[in-house]
Amino acid sequence: MSITTATRLENIQEYYFSRKLKEIEKMNQEGADVLNLGIGNPDLPPSDQTLATTESALRNQNGHGYQSYRGIPELRQAFADWYKRYYNVVIDPETEILPLMGSKEGIFHISMAFLDPGDEVLVPDPGYPTYTSVTKLVGGSVIPYELNEENNWFPNFEQLEKSDLSKVKIMWVNYPHMPTGTRPSLQLFKDIVDFGKRNDILICHDNPYSFILNDHPYSIMEVENAKEVVLELNSLSKSHNMAGWRVGMMTGSPSHITSVMKVLSNIQSGMFLSVQKGAVQALSNPPDWYKQINKVYESRRKKAWEILDLLGCSYEKDQSGLFIWARLPENQKSSIDFVDELLNKAHVFITPGAIFGNQGKPYIRISLCSKIDLLEKAKNRIKKHS
Ligand SMILES: Cc1ncc(COP(=O)(O)O)c(C=O)c1O
Repeated sequence: MSITTATRLENIQEYYFSRKLKEIEKMNQEGADVLNLGIGNPDLPPSDQTLATTESALRNQNGHGYQSYRGIPELRQAFADWYKRYYNVVIDPETEILPLMGSKEGIFHISMAFLDPGDEVLVPDPGYPTYTSVTKLVGGSVIPYELNEENNWFPNFEQLEKSDLSKVKIMWVNYPHMPTGTRPSLQLFKDIVDFGKRNDILICHDNPYSFILNDHPYSIMEVENAKEVVLELNSLSKSHNMAGWRVGMMTGSPSHITSVMKVLSNIQSGMFLSVQKGAVQALSNPPDWYKQINKVYESRRKKAWEILDLLGCSYEKDQSGLFIWARLPENQKSSIDFVDELLNKAHVFITPGAIFGNQGKPYIRISLCSKIDLLEKAKNRIKKHS
């Protein structure tokens, strides 16, 4: 007997990292000891107060049941206070915030809520692969929009408006941009919002990296009346070292939030209370907490630059986020082959830029989520094998 899968699976593959990690695991079982500089999974802990609050909430006898789909009021208030404090954006915690189990979940809910089969979605190339796979899963058509070094990895709106945008329903944007580390400007955000308004496109801004190696966190919601056409996702995964906790949020107009709630409330059943309490505490971390984390990333970044120098790559030094994006030396084969060769020869894994789209082909991405000793070890191995 053979049970066939849905046709929607024909257009997508298992997530690249899910496949690659299996390969690395197999190599390790055979004794390779691969050094993984690929994945943006913060290794540093959340603040002590976050852990203490979560631990004591765990003892609350009433804390083990289902929770509200909208999160506890304290969490929505904490998100609103965080937006006011760091982005100077006022959000109504009652109607304009929806806590999520990570922003990845939000990408799916938004797509389910707003896309019909055949609707088109503008997706950055290079960009986070989930925008593409989720669009395909819900039957939408992906229209990649090109980002390149010459245009500072900003969208070219003039070029975009030369094409037929009548079927485009959503545009995904993400600054600081993953994988290139490009920071936004307020003008960029204004241009994006104007583009959305002119063309009746829902702008979905994914903003998980604004606190990492970035002195001035920006939100697209700083643009006046942005929420008419914008939904912004945010997350504690990278900003608070809480990737495994699965805490994120969405902000936007009450009507957009209500539409997304229709999907979310049919899919999940609220977030564990202790996690929500811990998140409330994390969101009140003082500015110094972020500074101290960034100091660690700054020192790791220097070591990552040394690795990239050794590999003959070129890169910008003022990137934000958890990664360094670097161009391979001229005449290199594809980044997929480059990375596989490095993995097989030196047992060091770095992410190939090609997995982020066509524009990423001549690039690689190093993660700053490894301790300095491990980065040093990787550097020495690469030196030995070069
Ligand atoms: C651009 C981008 N968006 C979203 C996510 C997912 O974050 P979360 O842990 O909040 O689901 C990631 C994680 O790597 C990311 O790089």
